[in-house]
Amino acid sequence: MRVISKPNEMQTNVESLRNEGKKIAVIPTMGYLHEGHTSLIRKGRELADIVITTLFVNPTQFGPNEDFEKYPRDFARDFQLAEEAGTDFLFNPVTEDIYQDGYNTLISISGITDKFEGASRQGHFDGVATIVAKIFNITKPHYAIFGQKDYQQTLVIKQLVRDFFFDLSVVVAPTVRESDGLALSSRNVYLSPDERTKAVILFKALDEAEIAIQKGENRRKILNAILHNAIRSIPEIKIDYACAADADTLEEPDVFLPGEHVILMIAVFNGITRLIDNALVTIPQDPQVKKHYFV
Ligand code: PAF
Repeated sequence: MRVISKPNEMQTNVESLRNEGKKIAVIPTMGYLHEGHTSLIRKGRELADIVITTLFVNPTQFGPNEDFEKYPRDFARDFQLAEEAGTDFLFNPVTEDIYQDGYNTLISISGITDKFEGASRQGHFDGVATIVAKIFNITKPHYAIFGQKDYQQTLVIKQLVRDFFFDLSVVVAPTVRESDGLALSSRNVYLSPDERTKAVILFKALDEAEIAIQKGENRRKILNAILHNAIRSIPEIKIDYACAADADTLEEPDVFLPGEHVILMIAVFNGITRLIDNALVTIPQDPQVKKHYFV
């Protein structure tokens, strides 16, 4: 595995690989890799000849009161995990080379960013869209692989790719979970043992709502109530949002119709740690118990 830190050196390398006809996959990350990231790297290995993992804690996607400074960083560990999972190039730039002196461009995507993470974390998706566009221009991939855990982010990136004609496929890979259901996240390291135990309620709440959908529940407000009630069973956990929405548009109709894809999304504060999770569910054509179809 080769480590590259300079954007122009990365560009020169990918340019010649593309000229040789190699297919390139990029896995953008902020480091502190875990099994969720390594599953994306392995996916890249399946799809492409060359796998680039990027490590960059992107300052522009953190709000002033967020955890940019204390975001966990461990290059030696990331190097080992990225290499073991099958990375060919580890792109590890410094901030000054990504946001050069006098940089003056931010990409701002509207619509899909208006709600949920976008509303709670003002400016967050401008930072994400900007860094992802830079990574695409630096690594020139055929495939860009992201985890479903940041579901709204995947919609934002798909919109970016459409709007800017990036010639690549966005691949979304499933969330990797601990054995009790907690979604892997670099931020889980912030949790105390007690908070860690309680954090599983996110998965349980999603599971309850998903079971309700399989049994025929299709009313958005009821699904939202199922999520809220489950999370409220742990009073220490504070809900930011917990809701069902159309999985493609994030619109919130009163009722979801058979065959429609619904995203169940949760964001909470567990102590001072903000956690998110989601589940993608299809409204059944033939639910286990029919009800509420035409309310
Ligand atoms: O999902 C992340 O880790 C980040 O938002 C990303 C896509 C690497 C951009 O900094």
